[in-house]
Amino acid sequence: MGSQPRRVCVTLESRLESMDLGEEIARCVAGTAAFDEDEQHRISMAVRECVINAFKHGNCSDVRKKIEVDFTLLADRLVVAVRDEGKGFSLNQLPDPLADERLLATSGRGIFLMRCFMDDLRVVSGPDGGTVVTMTKRLPSNHKPTAAAETTKERQP
Ligand SMILES: Nc1ncnc2c1ncn2[C@@H]1O[C@H](COP(=O)(O)OP(=O)(O)OP(=O)(O)O)[C@@H](O)[C@H]1O
Ligand SMILES: [Mg+2]
Repeated sequence: MGSQPRRVCVTLESRLESMDLGEEIARCVAGTAAFDEDEQHRISMAVRECVINAFKHGNCSDVRKKIEVDFTLLADRLVVAVRDEGKGFSLNQLPDPLADERLLATSGRGIFLMRCFMDDLRVVSGPDGGTVVTMTKRLPSNHKPTAAAETTKERQP
C-alpha cells in the first residue's frame, strides 16, 4: 500500500466509450483507496453520471472538447473533480427529481444519484468557460492512512 498513488489525472475524449473508461478507472482508484465493493460501485456510478453530463451537457458531444477527471486521495477522503469545456450550470436551479410532477420523468436524476452516492458535491463554472464538478467521499472509518496519504495531510493548510 506504500506505493498507492495520491493523484490520478486522466483526459477523456468526448465519446461514448469514455463513460465506461471513466467508470472503470474510478472503480480501480476507489479499490486502491480501501473502499469496499459496494462503495466502489457507488463511486464509479457517480463518476460515470458526472462524465456523461460533461460529455452531453458540458461539451455538447463535441469530440474536439475534452473531459478531465482528477482523483486525489487525501488522508481521510477521496476527491474526484470532473472538468468539461462547457458553459456551466447552477445546482440551485435544478428541479427536484422527487417533486410529484417529476416522479415519472425519465431524466434528471444524475445529480441526485451523485449526491446520494457521495458525501459532497460542488459545481464551479469559470468565467472563461469550463465547469468543474467536484465530488468527495470520506474514507471508511476503519481505514488506516498510508504513508503517502499522511504526507498529503501534513501539507494541507
Ligand atoms: N457538466 C454540465 N454542464 C452543463 N450543465 C449540466 C452539467 N451537468 C448537469 N447539467 C445540467 O443539470 C441538469 C441535471 O443533470 P442530471 O444529470 O441530474 O440530469 P440529466 O442529465 O438531465 O438526466 P439523467 O442524468 O437522469 O439522464 C442537466 O439536465 C443539465 O441541464
Ligand atoms: Mg445526467
